[in-house]
Amino acid sequence: MSKKIHYIADQLIPWQKTSGRHDLPWQQRYDAYAVWLSEVMLQQTQVGTVIPYFQRFISKFPDIESLAQASIDDVLACWSGLGYYSRARNLHRTARMIMQDFHGVFPQSREALQQLPGIGRSTAAAIAVFAFGQRDAILDGNVKRIFARFFGIDRYSGQSKTLTIMWRLAEESLPQHGSPEELKVYTQALMDLGATVCVRNRPLCSQCPLRTRCVAYIQDRVAQLPVSRPRSQMPEKETVFMIYRHENKLLLEKRPDNGIWGGLWCFPEDEPNQNKLKLKKKSSSLALPQLRHSFTHFKLLIRPSLQDVIANNEVSAAFVWKSPEDALMLAIPVPVKKLIQQHFIS
Ligand code: ADE
Repeated sequence: MSKKIHYIADQLIPWQKTSGRHDLPWQQRYDAYAVWLSEVMLQQTQVGTVIPYFQRFISKFPDIESLAQASIDDVLACWSGLGYYSRARNLHRTARMIMQDFHGVFPQSREALQQLPGIGRSTAAAIAVFAFGQRDAILDGNVKRIFARFFGIDRYSGQSKTLTIMWRLAEESLPQHGSPEELKVYTQALMDLGATVCVRNRPLCSQCPLRTRCVAYIQDRVAQLPVSRPRSQMPEKETVFMIYRHENKLLLEKRPDNGIWGGLWCFPEDEPNQNKLKLKKKSSSLALPQLRHSFTHFKLLIRPSLQDVIANNEVSAAFVWKSPEDALMLAIPVPVKKLIQQHFIS
């Protein structure tokens, strides 16, 4: 019986040949430019979304030289809709760096690739494996999920200690004496298994080539692993909601379309004594009990401050004065609704 660590490669390599993906557009030409572009596009984005963008991008900018010579506006226009635009800016910067500093030739080692903008360790390893036949380990979100389940890792993968453990396992799990071609097949297999079988919700364990030695499967903990981010790990931000009241009306501001609560009506964010709206105060401000609101990536501590003022009719179209009852009819975020209900509706 092979050791557990060898078992992964022993199982995955034949599985990839029969059940993995072989006809992705970037697999048709394993040159560094296409591999790099696809790996950057595939960061945080699924294959199905990436394919048409990849094809459009590569026909508009077929090589590193054409990308380096393009304007950033043309690059962003071609990226438009794919999201995370810093990826496109970094791609453009990297293309220019490679033309200027590397005579148009990609560096081949994972360590050197990792120095380039927008290329982290896992992306650098994927490029080194696919484009240059190097032996290196990837560890993207899909692979972390596979390892967390297979090895039964009971720790949140965002912690640096967990990452150290996972990187070690990733390196130890590489095929022992694999040819460059085998390394490619193994790397693609991990990506494909994570994307098609060992998916986050309802993984298809009955189809998984690793299941007989998968800790999560054996112990029936597939739904509990990987461990999700501990709540206390969430960063906490703070803001002040200024609740300006004139007679019985409250001032609400429409938030910009981007960012949290995009396009919703909210109490203006300000400091109690700043009064950036230059409203005439009728009294000093009153601090109301603070409240917390959780977003996916952070918690917000809200310090509400009530200020009676004389309404100023010159506030712009982004502001409205509303009675508490009418305010509840608008598109408002949950904490705004809670504050109105708790303090202004009898
Ligand atoms: N996700 C990240 N890189 C990938 C690749 N080369 N193929 C499929 N999915 C991926």
